[in-house]
Amino acid sequence: MILKLSWATAILIFGLSAQATQIFSNTGTTSGWDSINHEHKGTVVQVTNVVDQGSTALKMTQTYDSSYSGRYHSEVVKNNVYKRGDTGFYGFAFRLQENWQFSPAQSYNIAQFIADFSDTGCDDYMPSSMVWLVGNQLYSRVKQGTICAQKTQTFSNLATVSAGVWHKIVIQASWKTDGTGYYKMWLDGNKVLEQDDINTTIEDDRAFQFRVGLYANGWHDDGGMKGTQGTRQIWYDEIAAGTTFADADPDQW
Ligand SMILES: *[C@@H]1O[C@H](CO)[C@@H](O)[C@H](O)[C@H]1NC(C)=O
Repeated sequence: MILKLSWATAILIFGLSAQATQIFSNTGTTSGWDSINHEHKGTVVQVTNVVDQGSTALKMTQTYDSSYSGRYHSEVVKNNVYKRGDTGFYGFAFRLQENWQFSPAQSYNIAQFIADFSDTGCDDYMPSSMVWLVGNQLYSRVKQGTICAQKTQTFSNLATVSAGVWHKIVIQASWKTDGTGYYKMWLDGNKVLEQDDINTTIEDDRAFQFRVGLYANGWHDDGGMKGTQGTRQIWYDEIAAGTTFADADPDQW
């Protein structure tokens, strides 16, 4: 049953037979990334005691500091996962710490596509699509328009997530600005989002990165932490991206 295949196995079976122009998978190791971004007291550590598949996972931690005004990324970074016109699959498994505090709700980003637009004078690193939690609700978005006139289309309350268990996210996207793109997302094999015939990125041809990790964006964007859980941990495993997976139907995953 295809549903039971791990993402890495699916890549082995389907990915190599397709005309994949870019493909990678990571089994929860700190090696193999283009960069690792951990700001302030944040950490990114390879562990063996909490894993989804195989023998390793990545543990991302962020720690709130009321005297710090910067951002709170703890992410691994893979360069060049999409450009406008591409179609791709992107997946990862994540696990929130068992006592993750969902309430009061605040935004915690868990994955994003991003590129450096400093040369435009309108922005610096701009995320296009992001995947985040508000309370126990899963959110995502696409970015449209131009770097100097950005529009955000947000997809709210896509699904409910739980703490202390592994979840699997898969995104399939056709990155277009002519109104013919699509953006789909699965949580644990259930399709939670399908948007067809939309713009899914901004009018620009540069390569975007795929980053997974804990980015406690609410702490910065809201001007402080809500609630009392100033140390947050998320584990990641089975992180992958590919362009085409032959005739594999992700609805069956
Ligand atoms: C897509 O973007 C283009 C260029 O910005 C715009 O002209 C068009 O109206 C958009 N189409 C949709 C369906 O949003």
